[in-house]
Amino acid sequence: MVQLVPDVLLLIFAELQNYPSSLYSCILVNSSWCCVAVPILWKFISYGYDAPSDHKLESREKLYNVIAHFLPNGPKDPLSKNNISLPLNKFPRKPMFEYMKYFTRIHPGWIRDMIQLSINEGSTHKKNVLESEIYKLIFNKCNNVKHFYWITTEKLCSYPNAKPFFSSLQSLVISLEFNTLTSQILPELSNICHNIINLEICYCKEDSSDLVTFIDMQHNLQSLCLHLGDENFEIEENDDENDDGNAVDWNNIEEKQYTLLSDVILKKADKLKQITLTPIITLIDPEFLSSSVNIQNLELNNDDGMYMDIDWRKWGKCLDKASFPHLKYFGTTFLPSNIESLIIEKSGGNVLEIDIRYPLEFHDYPAENVKLIRTIYNNCPKLRKLTLNIDPKNLREVSGIFSNCTQLEKLHLTTKNYIIPNGDELLKIISNESPATLREFSFGDNWNFSLKGLESFFIYWKCQEKFPIKFTNYYDEMIYSWTDDHKKLVERYRQDGTIR
Ligand SMILES: *[C@@H]1O[C@H](CO)[C@@H](O)[C@H](O)[C@H]1NC(C)=O
Ligand SMILES: *[C@@H]1O[C@H](CO)[C@@H](O)[C@H](O)[C@H]1NC(C)=O
Ligand SMILES: *[C@@H]1O[C@H](CO)[C@@H](O)[C@H](O)[C@H]1NC(C)=O
Ligand SMILES: *[C@@H]1O[C@H](CO)[C@@H](O)[C@H](O)[C@H]1NC(C)=O
Repeated sequence: MVQLVPDVLLLIFAELQNYPSSLYSCILVNSSWCCVAVPILWKFISYGYDAPSDHKLESREKLYNVIAHFLPNGPKDPLSKNNISLPLNKFPRKPMFEYMKYFTRIHPGWIRDMIQLSINEGSTHKKNVLESEIYKLIFNKCNNVKHFYWITTEKLCSYPNAKPFFSSLQSLVISLEFNTLTSQILPELSNICHNIINLEICYCKEDSSDLVTFIDMQHNLQSLCLHLGDENFEIEENDDENDDGNAVDWNNIEEKQYTLLSDVILKKADKLKQITLTPIITLIDPEFLSSSVNIQNLELNNDDGMYMDIDWRKWGKCLDKASFPHLKYFGTTFLPSNIESLIIEKSGGNVLEIDIRYPLEFHDYPAENVKLIRTIYNNCPKLRKLTLNIDPKNLREVSGIFSNCTQLEKLHLTTKNYIIPNGDELLKIISNESPATLREFSFGDNWNFSLKGLESFFIYWKCQEKFPIKFTNYYDEMIYSWTDDHKKLVERYRQDGTIR
């Protein structure tokens, strides 16, 4: 009988990496299949338990029970000393695999959930004991972890084996929600953790020199994501304790620009491939843009900065000197269109995806919008995905996108003010001019399509024998012009396979 060698099995099972129940079936076949499938299943667990409530209680209890088998459990160990009796359901034999080795990523989601489910009395002390035992176990046994998400106030750096663990990490998310994390934990971490490639800092509430030192120590930093200001950033369910009421003083933002952080970002900028700033981007001095020559992925989400009175001229000046020859992904919210145009102008024709939402409106929005649309189609011949606001006056410009961006696959268009049915004209342009690659079109809430216009569009698409286009209305309930008849029409053409 023909046998699949383990290497081939591995390739096949890797295809199943997001289907834990299929992997589980493979595990039950025989021991050789089991050995290949188990690490892949645990990789799924590494990534799939950020929000444990997505999984059935029974699965979670089983998972935590397996993990509990690896916790030190002798009479002198902290669990026994504190009357914590785990695992709840003890296996007759030792587990077959060193499961902890298969973790590649640690997220506090499952750790909190495991503590919650294992100790169902109110004792905080016992919960803290268990938390610290779980982290000790991780540092001891999980030596393949590359990604770590730090949210606890536990002083993990002083745990046994913390040093090798943190020095082999490549990606770290750290939430500075509590001040002790910034003032006590970051300085310790700076001593043992220097190899981070991807760093994400949540709750960057102040211009902290400890944070700056930590960033500076990362000698191979390629991706930096900063959640600036006092945003309510959450990892999962709301914890009441997060509400510390430090509201942002909008009027002082400009003066409070984070100069130390700005300097370290500027220093690192020429090596960075990815920068994400959110939700108040102007806390950082734009000077770093002039040095970001290797940037591939730039995200500037100004969601909380939208109310602020910002002098954007400085951004303009820095962009004049900038060049982004490797830029592939560019995403923004609440930025002036002229800043977006400047960034795209400086890109090197390699942009694959643009996601521009909620443009700030200045004096002459339609004119700035035309400029942005033209900048996109004159500079981004390889564009695959585009999200953009189109002023109703500029509908004709969409043609330019179709004629120049001949590889466009996904298009999401929004518009600010609805004018009596302007959507029909857009549909005509898409029918007549879109490249054959287009397979997904979605629209924001202000487009007004007449039933007739919509039906002609579907009929056209049906005759074309192109890919069935994915046609989505994201605001089904909110959109005023979207009637039950529209919904029925879409449903009819979805049934017959014209659209997806
Ligand atoms: C395991 O099961 C597979 C699929 O039935 C089979 O091809 C393989 O020979 C079995 N391996 C062993 C060692 O029994
Ligand atoms: C553990 O349980 C025993 C008996 O129930 C009790 O005497 C002891 O005080 C408990 N120890 C702790 C640390 O809770
Ligand atoms: C893009 O389209 C415009 C007209 O729509 C044309 O003038 C221009 O040359 C095109 N640019 C490229 C790079 O194809
Ligand atoms: C949409 O267009 C129709 C005309 O076809 C018009 O009667 C209607 O008021 C428009 N709806 C909105 C919300 O503008």
